[in-house]
Amino acid sequence: MNQQSAVKVLFASAEAAPLAKIGGLGDVAGALPPALRQNSAGKLDIRLFLPFHAEIKRKEPQLGYLGAFSVPYRAGTFSVELYVTMVQGVRTYLLDSDVFNHHSPVYHGDPGLDGRKYASFSVALLEASRFLDWRFDILHANDWHTALAVYALKTLYKNDPFFKETRSILTIHNLPYNGYGSESAMTELGFPAGTDPDLPEWALLTPLPLGISAADRIVSVSPNYTREIQTRDFGCGLHEYLQKNNQKLSGILNGIDTKVWDPARDPLIPYPFDSTAISGKALNKAALQRELNLEENPEIPLLTVVSRFDYQKGIGLIFDAIPENVRKSWQMVLLGTGAPDLEARAADLIREYPHKIVSLLKYDEVMAHKLYAAGDIFIMPSLYEPCGLSQMIAMRYGNIPVARATGGLQDSIINYHADPDNATGFLFTEKTYEGLVSALNSAILVYRDKPTWAKLMQNAMRADFSWNASAQNYLELYRDLINQRGN
Ligand code: ADP
Ligand code: GLC
Repeated sequence: MNQQSAVKVLFASAEAAPLAKIGGLGDVAGALPPALRQNSAGKLDIRLFLPFHAEIKRKEPQLGYLGAFSVPYRAGTFSVELYVTMVQGVRTYLLDSDVFNHHSPVYHGDPGLDGRKYASFSVALLEASRFLDWRFDILHANDWHTALAVYALKTLYKNDPFFKETRSILTIHNLPYNGYGSESAMTELGFPAGTDPDLPEWALLTPLPLGISAADRIVSVSPNYTREIQTRDFGCGLHEYLQKNNQKLSGILNGIDTKVWDPARDPLIPYPFDSTAISGKALNKAALQRELNLEENPEIPLLTVVSRFDYQKGIGLIFDAIPENVRKSWQMVLLGTGAPDLEARAADLIREYPHKIVSLLKYDEVMAHKLYAAGDIFIMPSLYEPCGLSQMIAMRYGNIPVARATGGLQDSIINYHADPDNATGFLFTEKTYEGLVSALNSAILVYRDKPTWAKLMQNAMRADFSWNASAQNYLELYRDLINQRGN
């Protein structure tokens, strides 16, 4: 960066791998800050701020205790204890308070409880920086959980000299999750209702739109999703706002942590492999077939799913597609948790199609690595997908995605039907199980053509999904904000 002293960035997130990960936000917050540090040639002082979730406490990270401070709110103060740990070279602050933490899961799933947890965390992280006397230049918030920190800078802390020079970026990872249900917590904390005349009425006490309106820059996690959220179909009621304010909106495609997701060095898979020594992949497949009591046969394509079971992911399309396809030769392993109705359907499949379909209804990091490594085809029929990391991970492990052409899936997968020479997967557009069935059939047909499939695997495994390019884009944004501040 073009500055004498390092630019200071406060990176705020609800989750960050490996300390706490529920989905892709955890991957991003775990990998982007170290990538930004590495790509900045020492010109960036980026620090991560997280709630000290019970899940992190159970992992017993090496900690330093920094002390306690008070956070003012409308009716008094609440107390927060501050701890520090290092994660991949990034100074990581863990904030603990009985208002938003003790024994609580990363997400309660209850809008009121989550609203209280993250509204208070958003204010507390600003006070933590004051307690540390660390005047950061840029607040980089992520999703609705920390969007209120951005809004707080423009409201509660508007005239506070400590934050006078602070600028803000808000990355949108998932627009529909907007923090609705936080109203009473916000009121309790003293947040005023929004006054931006461009925001719809329902958004005036809703964290994500308020953060969007207050942020100096907004980033969405893929160029295609950035276009999509400016349309009625994907904009969740904010498309007009985003169209009107699109000069502060940009799309930066996520990367993946290529050290964690590296088939050549992955300690969680039995047989390492890479694009130059691919034979280990077949050994991983055979090992998984044995482990899960599937027929051990290299010729049967192994279909894999690793996903939150959520409406977004189009999991229902997979279930609908099965009866039509069941007589064909394939095996399928699903790993995921989430919506009870989807879990129930997945459980039924094991009973109906034993030895052909295995449903593992849990969150299991080790099994996820094994599935990426063992699978031939990775199914991701998302109805919408801001970026998607699973398909990138799958490609790196030579597990060819069959995915819907939406959001970041379209930005990261080269469709076999559009460009067979450079293809890395199969894309389909229809939001129907017929669309999925037809894409799966094409993939299985190509799977039988060994040289063509080998080429697909080579292309996919060699694609660059590292954070480097995206980190450069974020650094440029930081630089712009700092430069504008001088004007
Ligand atoms: P999202 O953030 O919408 O869930 P992404 O594709 O961006 O989707 O990221 C999902 C991340 O969560 C990937 O790292 C994936 O491997 C992981 N994941 C999802 N479900 C599971 C599971 N049941 N067990 C282990 N890891 C999972
Ligand atoms: C969200 C999105 C996913 C994205 C992830 C990380 O969870 O659903 O598409 O990859 O955030 O940005």
